[in-house]
Amino acid sequence: MLATNAMSQAVDLIIQHARQLVTCAAAGPKRGPALADVGVIADGALAIRAGQIIDVGASDLITSRYRARRTLDATGKAVLPGFVDAHTHVVYAGHRLDEFEMRIRGASYMAIMAAGGGIASTMRAVRQASPAQLAAESIQRLDSMLALGTTTAEVKTGYGLHLDAEMKLLRVIEQLADAHPMTLIPTFLGAHAVPPAAPSTAAYVQTVIEQMLPAAARWYKTSSFVRQHIPFFCDVFCEAGVFDVAQSQNVLQAGLTHGLRPKLHVDEFENLGGVSLGVHLGATSVDHLDVTPPAEMALLAASDTVGVVLPAVNFNLGSHHFADARALVDAGVALALATDINPGSAPTPSMPMVMAIATRYQHLSPAEALNASTLNAAWAVGMGQHLGSLQPGKQADILILETGDYRALAYEFGVNLVQTVIKAGQVVHG
Ligand code: NIG
Ligand code: FE
Repeated sequence: MLATNAMSQAVDLIIQHARQLVTCAAAGPKRGPALADVGVIADGALAIRAGQIIDVGASDLITSRYRARRTLDATGKAVLPGFVDAHTHVVYAGHRLDEFEMRIRGASYMAIMAAGGGIASTMRAVRQASPAQLAAESIQRLDSMLALGTTTAEVKTGYGLHLDAEMKLLRVIEQLADAHPMTLIPTFLGAHAVPPAAPSTAAYVQTVIEQMLPAAARWYKTSSFVRQHIPFFCDVFCEAGVFDVAQSQNVLQAGLTHGLRPKLHVDEFENLGGVSLGVHLGATSVDHLDVTPPAEMALLAASDTVGVVLPAVNFNLGSHHFADARALVDAGVALALATDINPGSAPTPSMPMVMAIATRYQHLSPAEALNASTLNAAWAVGMGQHLGSLQPGKQADILILETGDYRALAYEFGVNLVQTVIKAGQVVHG
């Protein structure tokens, strides 16, 4: 007995006796049939030291190997990785309640945007807001996300659409990342829309490339993100009436020369060939994919680019058409889910809500939806080596549910089943 204790290693925390310990473990993003395997360990446990997962296995094994300064009993509960929300516009000011009512009466999202509302409306609110006001409004949304189980989120700029306002957004994102328990991953989205004052789309693209991108790259080099080895992305809204494929390519290539990794909004309303561009540029992810044709699905499947679908957008816009996630998975695409939280097309902080929609309207199983919200989502933000699954060596970002079956996350909706949120080994909620 004493001998065993002397042999066992000291750790900070053991979570033990989980009814289901759901690991979502794999060496890379899960594709095809592997997406349906979440790796459940019955009566599972894990050991945590210095914010990292040290070991995962059956409770009797883990408790015999380690002695913990603190234990958490998860009897009757499911334990799983924290969600990674791979696509968000969470930093903004104001709301678009009037546009919500206009859409209920039949106006389309793109018609509202073409008439000077939409992204431009939030642009005006963001330009007027002080950094403190932007941070205060956004932190409330980050708190909601965290309480619903999101431990990491990508965060885009794109409501400034002007050098000073885009830089203000980047600095607020950095301030929030330093202040909030969630890991935030910054994305520069200067090419989100053409601001109303721009003389032309071409002229605005030049401003993005010649002024904003160099300034954003300079900001990143001295930001806290660099010190934490968190990547910096560049994104473009590649869509009919916004930025075409050639303009998107020019922005992303300029981003690459400054060290920003490409991402794309593609095929939300019209297919322009954005997936092909993303694959060609080695984009980390291509997102939306609502109208992607089979040939581009095959191209995506053969690449390392993750496909991110955002079904809360379709739901919110009252559409009956959803990205064909089933076909994407069956084609072999590494698929991830995200909220797209923003004031226009997706005012929701909830990854469980996204899973509820994806299972019903996109025919993903609860297991597929969970892998797509954790492991594959971590790969979609360039953090797959460090986050997204319960594996030795990864950060201890862990959820304990109120229930013993992870499938309830997608099955029940409009309720929060997340009881405890652990970030880097620390209880940060519940
Ligand atoms: O991903 N499609 C472009 N951008 C966002 C919407 C942003 C907004 O409407 O404010 C999206 O859906
Ligand atoms: Fe978006």
